[in-house]
Amino acid sequence: MSGVDKYRTYVLSLFLVCLALIIWTCNARLSGNERDRQALLAFRAKITHDPQGALGSWNSSLFFCNWEGILCSKVKQRVTSINLSSKGLGGSMSPYIGNMSFLSEIILYNNNLQGTIPQEVGRLFRLKVLSLGRNALEGSIPDTLGLLDRLVSLELFSNKLSGMIPPIFNLSLLNVFNLANNLLQGSIPSDFGFALPNLQKIQLSNNKFTGNIPISLSNASRLQVIDLQFNNFSGPVSIDFGRLLHLQNLVLESNNLGLGGQSDLSFLNSLINCSSLKILKLGGNNFRGSLPHSVANLSNELTMISLADNRISGSIPLEIGKFINLIFLSLEGNRFTGIIPPEIAKLRKLQRVLLSNNRLSGNIPASIGNLSMLDEVHLENNELNGTIPPSFGHCPMLVLLELSQNNLSGSIPSKLFDISPFSLKLNLSQNHLVGSLPAGVGALKTLVELDISENQLSGLIPTQLADCIALNSLNMQGNFIQGNISQSMKKLRGLQYLDLSRNKLSGKIPDFLETLSLKYLNLSRNNLEGEVLKKGVFANASAFSIVGNKGLCGGIPELQLPRCSSHGSHKHKMSWVQVLIVISSIPVLAIGYYIWLRRRKEKPPSFLGSKTYTSPIKLSYKLLHEATEEFSPNNLVSEGNSGLVYKGKISSPPDNETFIAVKVFKPQASNQFITECEALRNIRHRNIIKIKSTCTGFTDINKKFTAIVYDFMEHKSLDRWKHLTSTSSHNEHCMPQILNLGTRINIAIDVANALDYIHNQVDNPLIHCNLKLSNILLDTDMSAHVSNFGMAKFLTDLGSTSQSNFDGFAGTLEYAPPGKKLNRSASYI
Ligand SMILES: *[C@@H]1O[C@H](CO)[C@@H](O)[C@H](O)[C@H]1NC(C)=O
Ligand SMILES: *[C@@H]1O[C@H](CO)[C@@H](O)[C@H](O)[C@H]1NC(C)=O
Ligand SMILES: *[C@@H]1O[C@H](CO)[C@@H](O)[C@H](O)[C@H]1NC(C)=O
Ligand SMILES: *[C@@H]1O[C@H](CO)[C@@H](O)[C@H](O)[C@H]1NC(C)=O
Ligand SMILES: *[C@@H]1O[C@H](CO)[C@@H](O)[C@H](O)[C@H]1NC(C)=O
Ligand SMILES: *[C@@H]1O[C@H](CO)[C@@H](O)[C@H](O)[C@H]1NC(C)=O
Ligand SMILES: *[C@@H]1O[C@H](CO)[C@@H](O)[C@H](O)[C@H]1NC(C)=O
Ligand SMILES: *[C@@H]1O[C@H](CO)[C@@H](O)[C@H](O)[C@H]1NC(C)=O
Ligand SMILES: *[C@@H]1O[C@H](CO)[C@@H](O)[C@H](O)[C@H]1NC(C)=O
Ligand SMILES: *[C@@H]1O[C@H](CO)[C@@H](O)[C@H](O)[C@H]1NC(C)=O
Ligand SMILES: *[C@@H]1O[C@H](CO)[C@@H](O)[C@H](O)[C@H]1NC(C)=O
Ligand SMILES: *[C@@H]1O[C@H](CO)[C@@H](O)[C@H](O)[C@H]1NC(C)=O
Repeated sequence: MSGVDKYRTYVLSLFLVCLALIIWTCNARLSGNERDRQALLAFRAKITHDPQGALGSWNSSLFFCNWEGILCSKVKQRVTSINLSSKGLGGSMSPYIGNMSFLSEIILYNNNLQGTIPQEVGRLFRLKVLSLGRNALEGSIPDTLGLLDRLVSLELFSNKLSGMIPPIFNLSLLNVFNLANNLLQGSIPSDFGFALPNLQKIQLSNNKFTGNIPISLSNASRLQVIDLQFNNFSGPVSIDFGRLLHLQNLVLESNNLGLGGQSDLSFLNSLINCSSLKILKLGGNNFRGSLPHSVANLSNELTMISLADNRISGSIPLEIGKFINLIFLSLEGNRFTGIIPPEIAKLRKLQRVLLSNNRLSGNIPASIGNLSMLDEVHLENNELNGTIPPSFGHCPMLVLLELSQNNLSGSIPSKLFDISPFSLKLNLSQNHLVGSLPAGVGALKTLVELDISENQLSGLIPTQLADCIALNSLNMQGNFIQGNISQSMKKLRGLQYLDLSRNKLSGKIPDFLETLSLKYLNLSRNNLEGEVLKKGVFANASAFSIVGNKGLCGGIPELQLPRCSSHGSHKHKMSWVQVLIVISSIPVLAIGYYIWLRRRKEKPPSFLGSKTYTSPIKLSYKLLHEATEEFSPNNLVSEGNSGLVYKGKISSPPDNETFIAVKVFKPQASNQFITECEALRNIRHRNIIKIKSTCTGFTDINKKFTAIVYDFMEHKSLDRWKHLTSTSSHNEHCMPQILNLGTRINIAIDVANALDYIHNQVDNPLIHCNLKLSNILLDTDMSAHVSNFGMAKFLTDLGSTSQSNFDGFAGTLEYAPPGKKLNRSASYI
């Protein structure tokens, strides 16, 4: 072989090797790509629902790296990220997902995926983010996740996962571990804090975990959030917080913690190094003993302290005044003694103070009126004495004041009624108050409950009480109130519970009591006389009591009262002057009657009588189906007893988009649909939600479908604005959004206008029967609109047997005692 030949052979073989190499790498690349493509197709095949067409671009004419939600590596063109969050996807997760070995992110947060998390995910050794929160995944968490040693964030909250936390191998990079709102049980592995040294958030709330909180958490020195509330963890808290310098939220509420030695709360000593601590919630456990002095050395960044419903004794430290950022203070349901420290007035941001059910004594500090942000004050069931500080009247946002079951004396200061015109509840019962109920009470136009029972109040019922037109429940029993039951009270058309028993009321039982939609009426032990009525609440012997009044007669037979003698001494004889007046007034009456008859003919028929109601626009099931993206969970605004409310979008010709709210009634709630339609037809008021359309028909699969369509209210319901104690803790703890004073007053006026309208200004007066914050909706301009008339009642219907399940005031407040899960009632519902 010549040198040239040798050279040629050399070049040729080099070329062949190169070619082989190229082909090999090409092949490898192709097969890797092809494997990813196959895996994505397999993933798509398991998605049965795609209302937004998120996978519409996943077709063969487009290279898979360009498919929606997919990111690839630049050079090798391998799939590195799948992000299909909030796409309304239904179906399950294909195990083929485990074939995309370059994946570092899987983000399927907020869809409707069912089935289990495939264990093949454990093969994705490059995975950093696994975000599957807010789906409907079930089964257990695969053990194989413990192999993902590059994982930074694991979020599986708000699913239906069960079983235990799998052994955590070496997830040394993990920052976020969020399994909140599932059905998980068992205990936290004891080496948790060692195995996850970089942990910043551990969120396990709303599960069924048990056992001790592992001491090893002390070693996870970067922890910011520890949220274990609503489980059944027990034993002492022995974490050494002294090393957790970044801790912000410590939320252990509603477990079974405590009972761990001399003073269960000694761990608070070690919290003083946590200078960023903002939220401390330890309520609903078994903590005992008194608060250690070091409490005063806790971070003054604290915004929320809850120690409610434990067995803590001793006094409230004066140093409480140092927590100038505090918004929420709950010490209720303990054994605190001593006074309420006047230093509390230094907490200028305080909104909610719950000190009820303790043994606090002394006066209510007058300085409390300096707390202009206060919106709820609970001091009931203590041993407080002295007078009610008029300074409460300086709290323009105060909507709930509970001072019952104390030893308060003196009179009710009229200044008290300068509190928020948007007040909902005032309870002063079971004290030693004297004097009369001030006329100023009439300023509280939206007051729903007033309880001044079991005091020593005297005087008359002020006529101004009738201005509290939202009043649902009025308790005045056990006082010395005199005079007649005021006629003006007939304006209280929403009244359902009225207790005037054990007073000194005299005169007749006024007729209007028959016409109110009372569910409970107690007039017993007064000095009433004359005839007992028979209609309305008086038709049902178990709904009212009149015992212990000497001069009563008549009524339904069950009462066994003497018959009222028609010629009794009460009936006074007409003098001849009166006879003359009666005779001379006959022509006037006749003319009046004639005019009234004519007017009545001219008027459109009252809407109750007319059965033909045509809605302004007719929307079909199909249209609503489209507008709400197939009733996608993403568009779900709220959920209530009668059905679900979705946000929808209707496009009308020149690129105009209108947002609507569609309330889809449950099949068993058809009565509420009818009631609401009846109630709202013909009602036109700017502060009452308008029906845009109704829809009754059949769905694609021939199920009956009833819905009401309203204008969409941008700012949702009022309760969302007030809500403070969030139990859904999968996100950051949301801090309260505050409505400013002007807005609150406007809302109060709007609501009062709406109520005045339905009570007094329509042909057929109506009672809402379900007024609460969640039924007051705010539009873009923050104008209030009263909604949800599904339980409304016409005054003319009273006495009929239709049962409205009024759920009282309990549902309207935001605060839920620890241990009880809040079932937030929803807007429109
Ligand atoms: C594939 O998806 C692209 C992007 O959505 C679209 O433009 C194209 O028409 C689709 N092709 C087929 C065959 O569906
Ligand atoms: C996922 O995609 C959504 C838009 O669809 C985007 O808002 C979100 O930031 C993305 N998430 C991540 C972690 O990239
Ligand atoms: C892809 O995943 C499926 C399901 O886990 C498995 O059966 C198959 O062998 C995998 N294919 C490849 C090429 O890895
Ligand atoms: C965890 O990692 C350490 C070193 O980083 C190693 O020694 C140990 O064997 C690993 N444990 C497991 C269970 O993989
Ligand atoms: C955990 O912290 C304790 C002190 O609180 C320390 O003694 C121990 O060595 C730490 N363990 C690890 C594995 O870091
Ligand atoms: C919580 O755990 C305790 C034991 O620590 C047990 O007695 C109790 O029944 C559990 N409560 C619930 C609601 O599971
Ligand atoms: C707080 O931190 C300091 C060092 O920064 C340390 O000396 C002290 O022991 C810690 N206190 C507690 C209660 O852990
Ligand atoms: C706690 O604060 C007080 C002052 O209020 C201070 O004298 C004391 O040294 C502090 N204790 C600790 C352990 O920081
Ligand atoms: C209210 O605060 C002002 C200063 O902001 C103070 O002068 C006044 O004394 C306080 N009132 C009470 C009752 O504490
Ligand atoms: C209130 O109670 C305290 C003891 O708790 C007592 O010293 C004080 O005199 C009482 N004040 C009034 C007005 O009854
Ligand atoms: C007022 O408080 C008393 C005692 O705390 C309670 O029994 C009563 O039900 C409360 N009244 C209302 C209307 O809630
Ligand atoms: C309540 O006050 C009265 C005087 O108004 C007093 O006789 C009584 O002892 C007080 N009760 C308590 C529990 O403080």
